[in-house]
Amino acid sequence: MSGLHSELVVEEYKRQAAIQAATYVHDGMIVGLGTGSTARFVVSELGRRVREEGLRIQAIPTSVVTQKQAREEGIPLTTFADQSVLDIVIDGADEIELRTLNLIKGMGGALLWEKIVASTAKQFVIVADQSKCVERLGERCPLPVEVVAFGWESTARKLAALGAQITLRRCSDGRIFLTDERHLIIDCVFSPLTAPYTLAEDILSIVGVVEHGLFLHMATIAIVSGSDGTHILEPSV
Ligand code: A5P
Repeated sequence: MSGLHSELVVEEYKRQAAIQAATYVHDGMIVGLGTGSTARFVVSELGRRVREEGLRIQAIPTSVVTQKQAREEGIPLTTFADQSVLDIVIDGADEIELRTLNLIKGMGGALLWEKIVASTAKQFVIVADQSKCVERLGERCPLPVEVVAFGWESTARKLAALGAQITLRRCSDGRIFLTDERHLIIDCVFSPLTAPYTLAEDILSIVGVVEHGLFLHMATIAIVSGSDGTHILEPSV
């Protein structure tokens, strides 16, 4: 399969998972809209349903990029000033651990808003192509950690002391990547990442850390598409 062809196939898997996830959204729901290339298909399908089927929802986006897309799609937006609980949040992930549905998120840089939104959800639905599924977290991507800019070098050293190989995230043009909250991201490779719950606590105890990309015990289901169709995964432990 050529590189371009395989990219198109993966895009189609993402689209299939997204379309399936959008069927979980019903009239009157308050919906969290995720960020990334898979969540983008969800926003687009919900926009289509709002326009063509008269679906009545209000949504909270997890990034400035998603907010812009939702506005362009004509999806009515709301905020946490008016909502305390979201009926459903649909978002992508960078890794999905098969038995637990524990996740690594944040390769798109939106992990903080994503976690705030997901933490208020009755249902947190993950959409992904099959390449995101792993036996153990940390197999295919680093763990993104969002830190404040002040003193980031000191914060990064403390992350390294936990056993991480650290990289300050940069944009493709070399500029330092800034999140929507104007924080920095330190990508941390822990090999292996064996004790995610302890690691999550250790990372959060470092002054200067805002949040990390471990989403533990949060996803209710994952909708995963691949060469053998679309599967609905639930945590089994
Ligand atoms: C954004 O910060 C991330 O958490 C995304 O949800 C994650 O990177 C998945 O993105 P893709 O669907 O583009 O792979």
